[in-house]
This record gives sequence, C-alpha cells and structure tokens, in this order.
Amino acid sequence: MTDTIDTIHAVRAEFDTAFTWDYEQSRAGLVKLYEKAKTSQWNATADLDWTVDVDPEKVGQELGGGGTLRFQALAEAEDSPVRHFGDAEWRTVSIELQKSLLSQFMHGEQGALLCTARIVETVPWIDAKYYAATQVMDEARHVEVFARYLSEKLGTQYGINENLKGILDDILRDPRWDIAYLGMQIMVEGLALAAFGMMHQITTEPLLKKLLRYVMSDEARHVAFGVLSLQEYYAGLSGPELRERQEFAFEVARRLQRRFAHTEMWARMGVDPDAIYRTMDRVQPPAQRMFQQLLFSKIVPNCKKLGLLDTADGWLRERFTEIGVIEFEDWVDTSSEFSELDEVARDREAAGA
Ligand SMILES: [Fe+2]
Ligand SMILES: [Fe+2]
Repeated sequence: MTDTIDTIHAVRAEFDTAFTWDYEQSRAGLVKLYEKAKTSQWNATADLDWTVDVDPEKVGQELGGGGTLRFQALAEAEDSPVRHFGDAEWRTVSIELQKSLLSQFMHGEQGALLCTARIVETVPWIDAKYYAATQVMDEARHVEVFARYLSEKLGTQYGINENLKGILDDILRDPRWDIAYLGMQIMVEGLALAAFGMMHQITTEPLLKKLLRYVMSDEARHVAFGVLSLQEYYAGLSGPELRERQEFAFEVARRLQRRFAHTEMWARMGVDPDAIYRTMDRVQPPAQRMFQQLLFSKIVPNCKKLGLLDTADGWLRERFTEIGVIEFEDWVDTSSEFSELDEVARDREAAGA
C-alpha cells in the first residue's frame, strides 16, 4: 500500500506539549488504573483464534437484524427512498450494515490511538501520562483487530463516516488538553462501549464475540481514566468554562447520533443518504429511537459524574431532557465498572495462568 493522497488525512494543530518535573505519583485512582492496565495487556495474534471460518451473511443476519429493522420501518413512509426494497435488498442491507458499523469502529479506534498519543503530550500530570501511554498500546491493538476482522473475515472496509471524521478532526485541532479527553474518552468511547456491549450480547460468532469482550474490558478502563481525570480538573473550572465543555459535549453527541444513519452504506446501495436522513427525521421509527437512546446509556451518567449535568444554569440537563436521554443519569457510571469488565484476567484465571 502506498501513501497516496487518498490514504493519508492530515489534521493541522497547534498545542502545548507539557513536560512536568513533578514525578511523584500522587493520584491514587490513576495509579491503580495504570497498574491494572499493565497486567491486562493481551495479544491479538496469540489470544484470539483467527482460524475460524466466518460467514458474513450469518453475522449480518444476526447483528444486522436489529439494524435492518430500524431502516425497514422507513419503507412504509411516503416518498421513502427504500420503498422498492424486497427481501434480497434487505438481506444485502443487513450484511453491509455490519461491515459499515465495524469499519466505523475501526476508524474510531484510530481516532482513539491519535487522541491518546496527544494526551500523553499535553496532560500536565505524570500519573495521567503513564496511564495514557498504556492506552496508546491498547488502541493500536483495537485498530489491529477490527482491521484484521474486516479484511480477513468480512472482506470489505468502508471509508470513514463524515460525522465521525468531523468529530475526530475537531478534537485533534483543539489545543485544550481536556477537550481530547472529553471528546474521545467520555463521548466517543462512552458510545463505543455501549455499542460494543449491544453487539457482544447479540452475536454468536465466536471470534467477534471474544474480540469484543476483550476490547470492552480495555474500553471500560479508558472511560474510567477520562472520568477520574476530568472530575478533578472540572471541579476547578468557572461557570463559563464549564458551559463551553457542555456545548462541546452536546455537539459531539448530536453528531455521533447522526453517524448511525450509515450514509456510506446507503451510498453504496445506490440510495441517496440525504433522503434517508429526511425520512428518518420524519418517521422516527421506535426501534431507531430506542437504539439511539441506548447509545447514551454511558455518556449521560459519565457527564453527571463530571459535574457537567448539574451546573447552575442546568444547560446540559435541559438538552439531554429534550432529546429524551436524561433517564440514564443514574445508570452506573464507568469510573468503577472496569474491574467487573476485566475479561482478560478472568480468562487467565480460568486457564490457571
Ligand atoms: Fe479502543
Ligand atoms: Fe479506548
């Protein structure tokens, strides 16, 4: 593969790379997380069985089933761009939807790789630099497993979704160190954790199931890292500074919701993605609403934990209420969930290692 204009996307950014001369490990939560990360490393080549045969159609039917339902409801609508679809087309949708979804996970993981490399440079605390360094390795492994699964088992990779690309570019362009955390660790990863969870529950394909289980146990640590670090930092910010963070978080949330319209898949199916958006906004099928809401099940409690929900002006609480996701505020936040999700340690214990 050559590095042509099509394979490289450059984001220009100006930011401060921060040295710290304070080497004392003083943040107990981060120290604990760093120790955990060091013993929970896994190897995608050795710990997963890549010899299994995968039937993309079966994976698509299992997983795409729910996704396809979301879109099938659009067929009934007047002027629907998918009105003419029959069984064959919907079967293709269920397969392509899966490839498209896993491709966006892969691109998102690369975004996480670059954002955590950025955090290593910009965060002022030594404990956070140590921890973020372990996360850089985790994210490289995640990109590796999704890329390999797509190319070896499903046979197609989709390009990055425009909404996701916009989010990642904005995060990487921003010079404030906490924005890389908020955008990536809390919003993008919080949503990924919820999406991986749903997918892991549904699929019976053994390689994908184990791969998701392992990725999730890393991700839970990552979100915990975001919550622990930002909780401390945001406690010292002023009202207007917090409001900027709330607006940023909400804007990211809206664009993340948009990305689940799967425009790149529709374009490949010969359907105008804008027509899908318009019909979706008009019809709002219940399965679609439920799916999108569930994606917020980690984001909302984590924002609450950071103190972004209960500021004096209540701005973010109002927005989350408007889009119908405030009910998740008291769901378990991810600052403690990572120990329950440590699947790697569990497997090693079972194997007597
Ligand atoms: Fe990841
Ligand atoms: Fe992550």
